[in-house]
Amino acid sequence: MIDDIRLDSKHPLQHQLYQELSERILDQRYPSGRQLPPSRQMAHDLSISRNTVNAVYEQLKAEGFLQSFAGKGVFVHEDIKSAVTPSGPGLHKPVGAGMRLPPLPALPRLKSKPVEDASLPFQPGLPDLDAFPIRSWNRTLHHQESRRSLRGYDSIQGYQPLRRAIAAYLRTSRGVRCEEHQIIITNGAQQALSLLAEVFLQSGDNILCENPGYRGARNALGRFGNPLVPIPLKKHVLDVEALAGLGPARLLFCTPTHQYPMGGILDLSQRMALVQWAQRNGCWIIEDDYDSEFHFYNKPFAAIQGMFENAPVLYMGSFSKTLLPALRVGYLVVPEAVVEPVLWAKQISGGETPLLTQATIAEFIESGQFTRHLRRMRQLYRDKWQLFQHEVTEKLGGLAQPVAESAGMHLVLEGNFDDLALSQWLKTRGFGSTPLSAHFLGEDVRTGLVLGFASASEREITQCVATLRSALAKQ
Ligand SMILES: Cc1ncc(COP(=O)(O)O)c(C=O)c1O
Repeated sequence: MIDDIRLDSKHPLQHQLYQELSERILDQRYPSGRQLPPSRQMAHDLSISRNTVNAVYEQLKAEGFLQSFAGKGVFVHEDIKSAVTPSGPGLHKPVGAGMRLPPLPALPRLKSKPVEDASLPFQPGLPDLDAFPIRSWNRTLHHQESRRSLRGYDSIQGYQPLRRAIAAYLRTSRGVRCEEHQIIITNGAQQALSLLAEVFLQSGDNILCENPGYRGARNALGRFGNPLVPIPLKKHVLDVEALAGLGPARLLFCTPTHQYPMGGILDLSQRMALVQWAQRNGCWIIEDDYDSEFHFYNKPFAAIQGMFENAPVLYMGSFSKTLLPALRVGYLVVPEAVVEPVLWAKQISGGETPLLTQATIAEFIESGQFTRHLRRMRQLYRDKWQLFQHEVTEKLGGLAQPVAESAGMHLVLEGNFDDLALSQWLKTRGFGSTPLSAHFLGEDVRTGLVLGFASASEREITQCVATLRSALAKQ
């Protein structure tokens, strides 16, 4: 007698019965060996034709769910457990478990950062989150929030008042030659790099990258499998003379105003030589101007982009350090001919930047709050930099050597230790850092720690150096 199945006469009965029976067998409500009613009785119980029942029984037999024995009847197959649930009851298995997926492309050597570690003090790249002027930001946000024009779609290139504000800021503070129509708003520097890879690279094109260098750039630019060619550093900046021996390349990624992570600054003659080399060799320079706002004693060198007319430079910047990483807003400044292809790439990847955030940043810049915030942060980070330098020199002695330029939000401590293990151990003490060796391409690496002091309080700076001292002294 079957009394737990209900069929709906509005839908095909054979299909419904097949579904109902196979589900019960799969989740073992009908266990292996259980006898099913003869087709005549099943048809009677469900008020359907016997032919329909016979057709379903035949299909389930053909598929191995059921078996019949002459003179005895129809049973759930004895081997059903091993046939459909190789390792446990089917009911508890996620859909698709046991299915084979096509292989994934090779993953980068270092996996993405675990999220819970991303905002620890000393995490490189992280600004001081507590020093952010949240009240005036919220007031600006609130001011923009109710504007009807910000509720729909907008230009894929980015909110025009923001592009205008960025263009004015870059012209005066960084010497960038640009008009607002050359600016493309992106979801952080990371999206800018991905878009450039999409637009510029063809298979086999080489990419030149500083070594050591910014991993985010290598990952984004290398996403299609193009060869990444390391450019060695000389005195903590990319060695322009070495370029002649590295062969042709389509893109060259660099951080000329504060080499990441080593901190060197490319001087004027080196900048000129780099641009001339790029022009001669048909290579585009990606200039990542990621923290030029935080040079503590001297005005930073003007951006390469603006130093020479028609320099083949794709300039990028981000609000991750000057405002907050969580905003996910950055920008590209590209020659006019490059705008359209980049916009196309941005459009098809659905990478619009939230309009309300863009409008809030635009007002923040135009009202002068951005400049005031930068001035305060420059002073704050300078104080932290001095304290950190002092603590490291006093307390770490010869255990690790600071690689210092008076700029930026991070400091590299070089030393002969297992930097991967030390960085992981520091996380367990509540301090973020990245191992220097992870910034190298190839096997020839140096070891050390990259420590982002901007996000740490004075107390955390002192504590972290003391913690490091105890760890390094034991080595
Ligand atoms: C060298 C460098 N460039 C750019 C960025 C900014 O990246 P994003 O705008 O994707 O947050 C960072 C962030 O840490 C960085 O270290």
